[in-house]
Amino acid sequence: IRLGPHTTLRIGGPARFYAEIATEAELVEALEYDGPLFILGGGSNLLVPDEGFPGLVLHLAITGPIVTRENEVEVPAGTEWDALVLHLCRQGRSGMECLAGIPGLVGGAPIQNIGAYGQEAAETIHSVRAYDRESKKFVTLPREACRFAYRSSLFNTTARNRYIVTQVTFALDPEVKPNLTYADLRKHFGPDATPAPLEVYHAVRAIRAAKGMLLVEGDPDCRSAGSFFKNPVVPPFALAPIAAALAIPEERIPRYPASGGNLKLPAAWLLDQAGFHKSFALGEAGISSKHTLALINRGHATYADIAALRALIVETVATRFGITLEQEPVEPHV
Ligand code: EPU
Repeated sequence: IRLGPHTTLRIGGPARFYAEIATEAELVEALEYDGPLFILGGGSNLLVPDEGFPGLVLHLAITGPIVTRENEVEVPAGTEWDALVLHLCRQGRSGMECLAGIPGLVGGAPIQNIGAYGQEAAETIHSVRAYDRESKKFVTLPREACRFAYRSSLFNTTARNRYIVTQVTFALDPEVKPNLTYADLRKHFGPDATPAPLEVYHAVRAIRAAKGMLLVEGDPDCRSAGSFFKNPVVPPFALAPIAAALAIPEERIPRYPASGGNLKLPAAWLLDQAGFHKSFALGEAGISSKHTLALINRGHATYADIAALRALIVETVATRFGITLEQEPVEPHV
């Protein structure tokens, strides 16, 4: 089975073996295979090599009812993320309305700690149920054990490939009101608005659509994995070389505060300043016409095409600004 069609970038060769997993019991059974393993969820943050994956790919499609107990909500890993957000916003619950329209499945949310428009999944994740490939048991990891940070967690850093997420429990505090700190949302609603979670849900989807981040089938920019690079987190002294390269004062460099006195720089801005504008193309790979940070497959791109554009961008930004960009989408490795 070719993996490309299972990814939003629509790139990637075959899996040696492939199995659709609908229950925890099927997962345990499939794990008797002892070769290389890759867990596929929604495929929306994934870049698969042209040669595919020389082992077993498990498509984690565990679905079932969403179980609500007071403020806790238990959700099977194979649930569509956006459907969960809509379901909770319709109930008037706040806490993940800014995460509307993110493609992919619930099981992927804790892995890279998805975030957008001022919220992160980590804020509402209560615990994660996962199969631990080391102890060969199902475990429940409370939020603190997951070591969430910007686009990162235990699951994609120190314990990469160890856990297979089968269910996520969210805790939604009924006192929490929709979060409108992000500039795009403040602009949308005006300064004094108090929109309901469902209104924020629809606003975020509209903003994402305008930026090409809804991945609508048929749109020329839809074959993408969202942001291709993380926003670099740098110490304040990293601003000087950028300002010097652009002959602008440091104050004009957009930045957001990050932990430890560091600054988070918008990677899209760095790309633009380095000459990689919207609709830039290099063969079959390109940049979205709607957002500079979304690399796209223009139609027939291979992994090699994306890798060539990635290398050009990473080298140019490093040489001009002294900043090393890190890729956001994961790649299956043996
Ligand atoms: N910008 C440009 N050109 C563009 C777009 C943006 O120069 O074409 C600059 C502007 O300075 C703008 C700044 O980048 O103010 C930030 O842009 P935006 O608000 O679109 O957010 P982002 O930093 O590019 C991040 C996340 C997105 C998330 C949005 C909204 C990362 C790597 N990306 O993007 O997440 O939707 O914020 O919160 O953190 C994803 O991870 O795949 C993703 C789409």
